Amino acid sequence: MAEPLVLGIESSCDETGVGIVRGNDLLANEVASSVEQHVRFGGVVPEVASRAHLEAMVPTLQRACAEADVDLADLDGIAVTAGPGLMGALVVGLASAKALAAWLNKPLYGVNHLAGHVAVDLLDHGDLPTPCVALLVSGGHTSLLLVNDIATDIVEIGATIDDAAGEAYDKVARLLDLPYPGGPVIDQAAQDGDPTAIRFPRGLTAKHDLERHRFDFSFSGLKTAVARWVETRRRDGLGVPVNDVAASFQEAVADVLTAKAVDAAQHHGVQHMLIGGGVAANSRLRTLLEERTSAAGIELRRPRPALCTDNGAMIAALGVQVVKADRPPSSFDISADSGLPVSRILV
Ligand code: KG4
Ligand code: ZN
Repeated sequence: MAEPLVLGIESSCDETGVGIVRGNDLLANEVASSVEQHVRFGGVVPEVASRAHLEAMVPTLQRACAEADVDLADLDGIAVTAGPGLMGALVVGLASAKALAAWLNKPLYGVNHLAGHVAVDLLDHGDLPTPCVALLVSGGHTSLLLVNDIATDIVEIGATIDDAAGEAYDKVARLLDLPYPGGPVIDQAAQDGDPTAIRFPRGLTAKHDLERHRFDFSFSGLKTAVARWVETRRRDGLGVPVNDVAASFQEAVADVLTAKAVDAAQHHGVQHMLIGGGVAANSRLRTLLEERTSAAGIELRRPRPALCTDNGAMIAALGVQVVKADRPPSSFDISADSGLPVSRILV
């Protein structure tokens, strides 16, 4: 049987993404970002993001179709992010996907954004060996997932109890007067800093926390510790060594994420690990996780950084898996769900 051909639409936050995938082959991946419109606010403004999706959707679709050079009549389905994400942003993608599916008379698949961050790795490394532990680190979510089957069975085994890792990057960047989004700029600043300069706290790693929160994360204490440290330096009239703060903060984040991910894989007897989400593009996280998984005899899969941040290809890749698993398409009545749990892969 020919591999399924799926078009995927992503609009959960500030990226309008359209991807076209056949099997595990990436044919097109077009992304229009509204990030510049949010910079002066220091974070995504939902209303601004929704309007930007509305303007970018049709041109992005046209670019992806031209790039893939496929006949839309040959599509096996239209996949779209149904959640989680910003409500007003999600509905733009969902309405577009419904219109396209109705016009082309194709099945509609409303899928989970977080599962898409996992599925995108198939485009780089082929079919996923399961079970697999996925470390999902984005601007809105930070969790450890046990992936038993990418199309049907994902279990959350741990999650952040406060801020997401990406959110912590964005907040610390603001403290250091660095622009939004904070991840890439802190990653860059950290290259010239000393990661051992300041010992910042590792959330939920103390013995009494591990009893209840072994696989959970907390980054709000770390963010506060960085804020206090920076404030004290400024109050005392001392300069703030931005590169050292960035490197030390980044080390604290990478240390706790990798330690808990490896512990989760070992606890569940799992040989394979994968990272996904915007923060998975982080250079230190990628290196440290490679070191620690390799020392533990765990096989690590890391999608190329450009596929870690939000895009349409990840939704198309997940759509292909859902079609291959023969799951029934979504109804045209589905609505966006801003709090869709990761265990609901298809709505
Ligand atoms: O997955 P994503 O594109 O959107 C969400 O689903 O949230 O993730 C965006 C997040 C932002 O917080 C951004 O600062 C962070 O990913 N990020 C990074 C890097 N690139 C993006 N964080 C650390 N290092 C990076 N290189
Ligand atoms: Zn995302």
